[in-house]
Amino acid sequence: MAREHLEFIQTQVLLWITLPATAARPGVACKVLSRDTESGAVSVILKYPAGFEIPQAHYLDDDEEFFVLEGEVQIGDMTYGPRSYAYLPDGYPRGAMRAPNGAAVLTFFEGPHQNVFDGEKAFDRARLIERIAAAEQSWGDSVDPAVVGAGLEKLMLRLDEQTGERTWLLTMGAAPEATTAPLETHPHVEELFLLDGEISMPQGLLKRGAYFWRPGEIQHGPIGTRAGCTCFFRCKEGPFSTDWTKHTETIVWDAPYRPTLPESLAEHAAAPYQGNDPY
Ligand SMILES: [Fe+2]
Repeated sequence: MAREHLEFIQTQVLLWITLPATAARPGVACKVLSRDTESGAVSVILKYPAGFEIPQAHYLDDDEEFFVLEGEVQIGDMTYGPRSYAYLPDGYPRGAMRAPNGAAVLTFFEGPHQNVFDGEKAFDRARLIERIAAAEQSWGDSVDPAVVGAGLEKLMLRLDEQTGERTWLLTMGAAPEATTAPLETHPHVEELFLLDGEISMPQGLLKRGAYFWRPGEIQHGPIGTRAGCTCFFRCKEGPFSTDWTKHTETIVWDAPYRPTLPESLAEHAAAPYQGNDPY
C-alpha cells in the first residue's frame, strides 16, 4: 500500500524517535510525517543535535530533498540556513555534513537510503538543485488566479521536467473579508507543511506546523486565511494541475477538527493540538 490519506495533523503531536547508529543520520531525532510502505519513501522532520557530523566525504544512495526550518546544516562547502532548500540526487558527491549548532530540517527521501563512503556513483545532474535560499530570491512566480487570498506570492523551488512534479513556497496575505471560494481537485498528490500563519478548511483550522498528504482526485476546499500563511508544498506522483469548481462555497473559518488519519494516528483525532510550538 502506498501512503494513506492524512489530512491533517499538527506535527507537534507526533513523537520524536532517535535514529539508530546504522541510519544515514545516526543519532538524529526524527518525526515521520508520512511513509510509503511499498517504496520506503518518507517525509520527515529531522532534528540534528548541536555538534552533529558525518566527517567523511560520502554520497547517499537515494534522492534527498530538504528545506531547513531552523538552524544551519553544512554539506561540504555549502551552508544551508533557515528556509534554504536543496534537491540532491542519488549519488551526488557530498563532503562532510555538519550541524554545529543543531538544525531542524523538513526532509524527503524517495526510498531506503544509506551513506556510501567508498567510490563514486554517476548522478543525474539535471535533477540537482544545490541550494536555494528563499530569502535571497524574488518571489514572483505566477499564482493560479482562482486561489482566494490577498498578496499572493509564490517561489518555485523545483520543477521536474520529466515527471512534472514540483515543490514550491506560497504566501497568502490575510483575507478575512473573503466569504466564499471554489473547490479544487488535482490528479496528483498534494503535500503541505504550514510554515507560518493559518488556513481554514472544512477539516479544521491548520496552524503553524500542520501537515497533510492528500492523494489525487480528492476534492477539497473551500479554503481561506484570516491571518495569512506561508506554505511549503509538493506535488507528487504526476504533473501539477488543478480542476476548479465553477461554483463557490462558504468558507468555514473555525470548523471543528475532522481529520482523515491513518489508523496509527487515529488517537489524535479526538484531541486537536492547542499549543504554539512550530512543529
Ligand atoms: Fe489543492
